[in-house]
Amino acid sequence: MKVFNCIQDWQTCRKAWGDRSVGFVPTMGALHDGHRSLVDRCVAENQHAVVSIFVNPTQFDQAGDLAAYPSKLEQDLDILSACGVGAVLLPEKAMIYPDDYRYRITENGLSERFCGAHRPGHFDGVLTVVMKLLNIVRPRQAYFGEKDYQQLLLVRDMVSAFFMDVEIVACPTARAEDGLALSSRNQRLDPQQRAAAPFLHRILRTAESADHAGNLLIRAGFDLDYVEDFSGRRLAAARLGDVRLIDNIPLASTGREKNHDPA
Ligand code: PAF
Repeated sequence: MKVFNCIQDWQTCRKAWGDRSVGFVPTMGALHDGHRSLVDRCVAENQHAVVSIFVNPTQFDQAGDLAAYPSKLEQDLDILSACGVGAVLLPEKAMIYPDDYRYRITENGLSERFCGAHRPGHFDGVLTVVMKLLNIVRPRQAYFGEKDYQQLLLVRDMVSAFFMDVEIVACPTARAEDGLALSSRNQRLDPQQRAAAPFLHRILRTAESADHAGNLLIRAGFDLDYVEDFSGRRLAAARLGDVRLIDNIPLASTGREKNHDPA
């Protein structure tokens, strides 16, 4: 596995790979089994698998959240090497933003709703860094988790709007046994919060409507950002203390089970 700190060195390697199929998984590190499932699929479906680890400052609307974002570089590199990844990109902020973020991608619709309504500028930062990384890596396929469903839709639409020659592959949400969607932020939950966190998924699945789910989440002790049904999914974001959790499920799988009331 080759590790690149310098974009020019990476580009020399990329040229040498020529037309061979390259798959790409962009990450912010602190890798868990959710990332692993994307990386495994990327390795299985391509001649070369590339992963980036870059904690993108422009997508954090709160300095505290950026500062608290976990970093486990050595462990991450061990995981990626064991998965069979060919190249890892570890760019610095100045390499990704030589323009100091003067140029950016802004979407004027979906990005203003749901998570975007609660995190001003978040999706500008996400779309801009994804555009830059796709231009740097030039993959045939790029893998994104369905857990960040709004992000997935926006990235797909951006690729289509800009005629970009890459397929965006959606991968199912990886979950802990109790249903909690895997996320790097989960490690910031204290034991009591960790015990409450699976109610997010359970309530989304079992409530009869988005409003009902919202009420149940508040009763279960969550600070609710939103629960809404959109594009065939039920999407939600809610906080336990200062940890913000997001999740979503297909609407077809909602309202089927009872005995969901955590109170
Ligand atoms: O989903 C993430 O981890 C990030 O939003 C991404 C796509 C790596 C961009 O920084």
